[in-house]
Amino acid sequence: MSASSWHDPIEKNIGVMMVLILLVVSVAMLVEILPLFFQKSTTEPVAGLKPYTSLQLAGRDIYQREGCYNCHSQMIRPFRAETERYGHYSVAGESVYDHPFQWGSKRTGPDLARVGGRYSDDWHRTHLNNPRDVVPESNMPSYPWLATTQVSGGDMGERMKTLRVLGVPYTDADIAGASEAVAGKSEQDALIAYLQNLGTAIKSTR
Ligand code: HEC
Repeated sequence: MSASSWHDPIEKNIGVMMVLILLVVSVAMLVEILPLFFQKSTTEPVAGLKPYTSLQLAGRDIYQREGCYNCHSQMIRPFRAETERYGHYSVAGESVYDHPFQWGSKRTGPDLARVGGRYSDDWHRTHLNNPRDVVPESNMPSYPWLATTQVSGGDMGERMKTLRVLGVPYTDADIAGASEAVAGKSEQDALIAYLQNLGTAIKSTR
């Protein structure tokens, strides 16, 4: 038999044990998580970050609707293999206007955080219609309907207003012109506008 010690009563009483565990976890959360909400590096936009234009925002919503995040992260980790392949690692200040952010850890396809400007619009059109036309070994699905579907942008102003409540600095003029800005555009146009903007803020500063 082992010698008894001062923590025997705690180990033998599950109620006391649970209360003490909760206490420890709560203190840890206060110390580790709470400060992040008040730190400039996690709450302030990086220099050069602009809110999405109406067309880019429509594209971002299509990106989420189609579940592109199921295969693509937008989070470059600070590892040499990743920064040499993609560019500067991701920082929180790039995503302060993203609700929800698209970081993620699912890496079936390449990370897209720096894909803006890497390919031409035409490359993206071909790729989205049928990835195998430009990357023969690709297992990415085809999204041909995006090219033939018009953006339903009647509520773009409302979407911007909601984001403004969450802190995205849209002006009244942005909101007033939001629907008109996407009129006649295809969902593919919108998605490409979104993709071409990814990473451009940080590329201009680092
Ligand atoms: C089933 C997984 C899967 C899904 C879902 C998926 N992709 Fe991909 N994607 C890939 C793979 C694998 C590649 C690499 C081969 C290629 O370029 O096609 C890729 C490549 C890409 C590239 C080129 C990246 C680069 O740096 O070369 C872009 C851009 C892209 N995908 C955008 C999208 C968008 C937008 C969507 C949603 C409409 C999407 N993907 C959905 C798997 C996926």
